[in-house]
Amino acid sequence: MITLGIESTAHTLSIGIEENGKILSNVIDMYNGGNEGLIPRKLADHHAAVFASVLSKSLEIAGTTIKDVDLIAFSQGPGIGSPLSVGVSGAKFLALIHDKKIIGVNHPYAHVKISEHCCNMEQPLVLYLSGGNSQLLIEENGYYDVLGETLDIGIGNLFDNFARSLKLEHAHGAALAKLAEGGEYVELPYTVKGMNLVFSGLLTSAEKHISKHSKKDLAFSLMETSFAMTCEVTERALFLTKKKNLLVCGGVAQNRRLQEMLKIMCKEDDVIFGVAPDEYNRDNGAMIAYAGSLLYKKYGAMPIENCIPITNYRIDRMKEILD
Ligand SMILES: [Fe+2]
Repeated sequence: MITLGIESTAHTLSIGIEENGKILSNVIDMYNGGNEGLIPRKLADHHAAVFASVLSKSLEIAGTTIKDVDLIAFSQGPGIGSPLSVGVSGAKFLALIHDKKIIGVNHPYAHVKISEHCCNMEQPLVLYLSGGNSQLLIEENGYYDVLGETLDIGIGNLFDNFARSLKLEHAHGAALAKLAEGGEYVELPYTVKGMNLVFSGLLTSAEKHISKHSKKDLAFSLMETSFAMTCEVTERALFLTKKKNLLVCGGVAQNRRLQEMLKIMCKEDDVIFGVAPDEYNRDNGAMIAYAGSLLYKKYGAMPIENCIPITNYRIDRMKEILD
């Protein structure tokens, strides 16, 4: 069975193709808005403009045609309404005009499933870290429960917001991480509540320090503090669940300093650590194709009238949406 997956929840339009667990292609086109942040209308315009070329490139790399595709999977949420709608409309158009089966996929579920697949892990404790999300997840009977999460902004948004406050040319986590290299530690607020995280006080405090410390030291300290908070809640969840595998996934999982801190923690606690290649921690269509094929085996195709964007689609709502 060949599945074509479409990702469009935020800055990235990506189309990937999968056949029986093997990724055939994964074409990724990310909108670069410089320092202005994610403006929904501009993201939607970008996705609409590149949709056709990303699709044809993805089919070409996979060595297939749309006729051979059996299932169209699309990222259904959570995400920003305008860009999300472009992907959902594209998926419905392809399904209707080519008479294909269609299925909506929860975006975090896709990150988790492709990472489990890449790392060959079953039912690990999952740390999912992206722009809008920071969650500790555990699978129970095929569904994911949230053990702990951010109570305000996602860790990726914390980095993007601070990068904008520092007026970095490219306001995102990767640029902040590069700036942070070799920085010195400045004390910033550290807020953990049980297995939950709070980042907005840390952001405000770091912003107040901008005139007093170097950008490098503040970038370093903001990242060290937020990663240490994340490690603390993850270690608490490991002890609570007695899990012996930890998987980190989502955009922020690409950060090498975070990976290093989690690896040290896992070694001390005798836990196996897993992280997928960067390509699958970025927003990408291949993970939507892969997760879509898994969901199709369990639930069958989705009626076209149910194929609508769900901007606040939490992973722990999958049972309610799919059953
Ligand atoms: Fe993502």
